[in-house]
Amino acid sequence: MTHLVVLVLVGALLNATTAAWAQADLIAKGEKVFADKKCIPCHAIKGKGGTVGPTARGPELSTVGANRDAQWLKTFLKDPKAVNPKSKMMAFNGTDEGLEALVAYLGSLK
Ligand code: HEC
Repeated sequence: MTHLVVLVLVGALLNATTAAWAQADLIAKGEKVFADKKCIPCHAIKGKGGTVGPTARGPELSTVGANRDAQWLKTFLKDPKAVNPKSKMMAFNGTDEGLEALVAYLGSLK
């Protein structure tokens, strides 16, 4: 009986660890997508980037994950003008997998 309890506990711990690793992996991929898709010239994160001229400069994204949830980010990135008709941002032009990773990365910025 005690063995069973221990096994269940170890199993739960392993599951939680694997999920945390998978999430960390997704966030790392998203950071790479952020660099590859040229988001950095318009958006500063923790003091890096966002140096493009004043008209195109996007907001600071250092704490975007505290203000926007994953659903909002996904909708906005897919089609910024659908959320804000005056948006100066282009729609995300990568894969669904890339978008998923990007949303995980931005969501982690708090
Ligand atoms: C040409 C400059 C430019 C580029 C490139 C750009 N953005 Fe933006 N972004 C903006 C501007 C300007 C805004 C402010 C609102 C608007 O115009 O839509 C914005 C808004 C945002 C917001 C909303 C922030 C908020 O909380 O309101 C997110 C998230 C975002 N950008 C992420 C990205 C990502 C991810 C990329 C790369 C795929 C990217 N941006 C590329 C200019 C840019």
